[in-house]
Amino acid sequence: MAEFHSKIKTIEWINNYSKMVDQTVLPYEFKYVNITSGQEMYDAIKTMIVRGAPAIGVAGAHGVVLYAQELAESLLPACQKESGRNNDSLLRDEFVKKLLEKADYMATSRPTAVNLMWAVEKQKDIIKNSTSDIKGIVEELKQNAIKMENDDIEINKKIGDYGAEIVPKGATILTHCNAGGLATVGYGTALGVVRSAFANDPTIQVFADETRPRQQGARITTFELTMDGIPTTLITDGMCSYFMKKGMIDMVVVGADRIAANGDAANKIGTYTVAIAAKYHNIPFYVAAPLSTIDTSIKTGDEIVIEERSRDEVTHINGKIICAESVNVINPGFDVTPNELISGIITEKGILRPDYTKSIAEAFKL
Ligand code: MRU
Repeated sequence: MAEFHSKIKTIEWINNYSKMVDQTVLPYEFKYVNITSGQEMYDAIKTMIVRGAPAIGVAGAHGVVLYAQELAESLLPACQKESGRNNDSLLRDEFVKKLLEKADYMATSRPTAVNLMWAVEKQKDIIKNSTSDIKGIVEELKQNAIKMENDDIEINKKIGDYGAEIVPKGATILTHCNAGGLATVGYGTALGVVRSAFANDPTIQVFADETRPRQQGARITTFELTMDGIPTTLITDGMCSYFMKKGMIDMVVVGADRIAANGDAANKIGTYTVAIAAKYHNIPFYVAAPLSTIDTSIKTGDEIVIEERSRDEVTHINGKIICAESVNVINPGFDVTPNELISGIITEKGILRPDYTKSIAEAFKL
């Protein structure tokens, strides 16, 4: 069986462009697209060609490199490009000013997953603090984006290994949406826990919520888990409490798009319902996420901006309308699970436990 996670990088910088898996066509087709301009990257994030908090963070970092390349190309006269005399300070100032504006624009491509803003901020720090010339700044941004890719996989493996320690033998793990290799550069956060647990104990299995409206659970989670030979059962979103009552779920592990300083966690719409059902049935509910998903600038989940997505995602499946055409639709992309429903937050620094305000603050000091 091909090992999905060891073979596939969801997003990767190649020479002067970004290569990514096109997640809009899964599972019918597995194909890569090359993103060669900043605007193309903005659109790829917005239209969810790339999706999942850590993956769109790296995409945002790549997007800043693409804009930097474009600006360098347009600002540097050909003679300077060749001779390396690109230190003209006025030109450099203009480059920095325009690039910071483009970086801010890139950070607005989606509003909820904070990894996007986090990664763009890291690139902005380089733009603001570098002492290099224009070409040097472009190179530093590129190297930082590549480092973020490699770090992401390492961090996910740590999350996986910490998480695996608390997975009971032979457990059935319920997950919602896709927090796998395809939501990150590789390995995954919630599915990283599944992968590490499965490596120790091949008797574990996964129940995957379909995750309406975009069906990331059905289209993406089942795709990557079955490719790794991990036993997976697909259920629709409303079924989780039924299986919990029957004693068929031992724990829940989900990803997150933004976690507030008090541990409230935003994740794909429907996660909150799963957390309430888990609490009622006394089933542990874990969130697996890197520290870059924790936004310590906000005190509670009430401050998290929830993305409103198009009505078509709800009214149509595979291009076919499934309801009365004139019906009202509301389509929030995420919900916030309150911290009191969360048994632990599995990070690369270990498993954080309540009181989250304290444990999160301590994790950032480590
Ligand atoms: O809208 P998406 O598909 O980008 O939302 C993804 C999720 O909600 C994931 O579960 C979350 O980002 C965790 S990703 C490791």
